[in-house]
Amino acid sequence: MHQDINKLFQGLWDDYIKITPSASKIHQLLEAKTGMPDIINDHIALRTFNLESVNLNKLAAHFLALGYEQKGDYDFATKKLTAQHFEHPDRKQPKVFISELRVDELSETAQEIINKMVSSIDPQAIESDNFLYSGTHWVVSHDDYKTLLAESEYAAWMAAWGYRANHFTVSVNNFAVGVNHLNRIDDLTDVNDILKQAGFKLNTSGGEIKGGEDVCLAQSSTMADSSEVVFADSTVSIPSCFYEFAQRYKMVNGEYYQGFVAASADKIFESTNAQ
Ligand code: NI
Repeated sequence: MHQDINKLFQGLWDDYIKITPSASKIHQLLEAKTGMPDIINDHIALRTFNLESVNLNKLAAHFLALGYEQKGDYDFATKKLTAQHFEHPDRKQPKVFISELRVDELSETAQEIINKMVSSIDPQAIESDNFLYSGTHWVVSHDDYKTLLAESEYAAWMAAWGYRANHFTVSVNNFAVGVNHLNRIDDLTDVNDILKQAGFKLNTSGGEIKGGEDVCLAQSSTMADSSEVVFADSTVSIPSCFYEFAQRYKMVNGEYYQGFVAASADKIFESTNAQ
């Protein structure tokens, strides 16, 4: 496991932009538009299965070792997902959102495919520095991918992409401080407008902006890029990862809300749906 938070996030980012080139372009665009040299990452999201060897706790261990603490619990009944989020005592470090698919709620066929995938992971790899951005540890056929896709978009995404950041998230709040007045962008709506003008496609499931001031968190995201996946029998271009944008609001106690909103996250998951 990494001993250095910055190295872990750098490894995750470098891997992520390889299959999500639009995130890199948007990062540069927002830096140029806002005059902010450093975009703050609100959170990253990771996906896994609830199987003993690779479950949410196994991924979380990499962050607990770096001083992260477990905070919120979430349930997504329709998508068959359980999730938790983690925060670091140093508020400048990104929050981490980890979900796991409840494999036991899928069909026997899907369970067989997933069990076979996970059984081919070297147990030692799960604890190594780079596991969280190590990609797939298996080769599946395109047919198996399609079988999973018919039941769970999340399972199919995991089969194709494996262990890596599903998204990074631009903190919109960061733009409200320190920018000169002409460049002031302090609202998620402004960020969305910049992205659309530049030709990026936003996820409109549940509306372009999910949540808002009433739930202390407003979120939007791009639709995932497409990238080539080498299956056992063919190479196919499929949705990879997306970029998210989050604006946080103060709670009644005057502190900025740090959690997540299940109803919004439920729609954000759909950013990797095939278009
Ligand atoms: Ni997110």
